[in-house]
Amino acid sequence: MKTIIYYFSGTGNSLKTACDLALQLADTEFFTDRTEVFPMARAGEADVSADRIGMVFPVYMSGPPLIVSGFVKKLAAAEGWLNETGKYIFAVATHGGNPGGALKMLYNDMRKNGLSLDAAFNVAMPGNYTPLYGALSGEKQNALFVRADEKLREISARVLSGERGYFEFSNFFVNAVSSFFYGLMSPRIPGMDKKFFADGRCDSCGICAKVCPVDNIKMLKGKPSWNHKCQQCMACLHWCPKEAIQYGKMTRGRRRYHHPLIKLNEIIQK
Ligand SMILES: Cc1cc2nc3c(=O)[nH]c(=O)nc-3n(C[C@H](O)[C@H](O)[C@H](O)COP(=O)(O)O)c2cc1C
Ligand code: SF4
Ligand code: SF4
Repeated sequence: MKTIIYYFSGTGNSLKTACDLALQLADTEFFTDRTEVFPMARAGEADVSADRIGMVFPVYMSGPPLIVSGFVKKLAAAEGWLNETGKYIFAVATHGGNPGGALKMLYNDMRKNGLSLDAAFNVAMPGNYTPLYGALSGEKQNALFVRADEKLREISARVLSGERGYFEFSNFFVNAVSSFFYGLMSPRIPGMDKKFFADGRCDSCGICAKVCPVDNIKMLKGKPSWNHKCQQCMACLHWCPKEAIQYGKMTRGRRRYHHPLIKLNEIIQK
């Protein structure tokens, strides 16, 4: 059985989740099950030859990243997909404590595109939205990772058994409020990068441009410039080795975050 897990990740939580799930879904005894992990941002089209397709992404503003909606359209457009039966599609949203309506929004988006989601899960991880808060202490991060490991074992057991109709949706009220809030915010997301700037500590290393999953950063005269097709993943801010990237006035001096087991070369999707 072939599984492809498509991921989107700014600071590595969703990439680590996708990789761990891939290991658990592979048939390690007979090596007959192939499992691949692939960046959503580099998926020219969806590979629907897989028997199982996973989507792993962070929650942004109580909803899924904009890129996920684009990926759903690629899935729907893939030749023959709608006529296939027996395929299994699951989603995992990593979040910083409030998953909001992300899974329900994805479910509705897929239905609108003629697709059905078989199962959807939430995994709590350290938050990375530095405009509101700095990184958690190492101790608090580790406690979340231990719980996330347990949760991933549960998720892989459900996926391996082919369980359909299992959805970790928030309640009706949370989904409705999230949907309303997300509807207001999402059109503004690509242009929200206007608040990014590099301060005097920038040494022109270019790492920010390399980590941006959607190539939104170009180096101009040795400094990053943002081009208004942002996903708000915060990778540029968190991976800058000089902590030179700020978002408005609140991020200076706040601790940066990335998943401790994900390295710079792993988050760069080129
Ligand atoms: C722009 C933005 C908005 C976010 N909004 C939420 C949110 O509404 N609820 C939540 O629990 N976490 C929120 N987070 C935190 C992320 O969902 C969480 O840290 C996620 O695991 C990050 O995944 P990554 O490391 O793969 O990028 C937000 C993060 C960003 C960058
Ligand atoms: S990663 Fe930081 S130091 Fe390097 S070019 Fe970007 S802003 Fe400058
Ligand atoms: S510009 Fe920064 S926040 Fe926006 S998508 Fe690229 S890395 Fe993410």
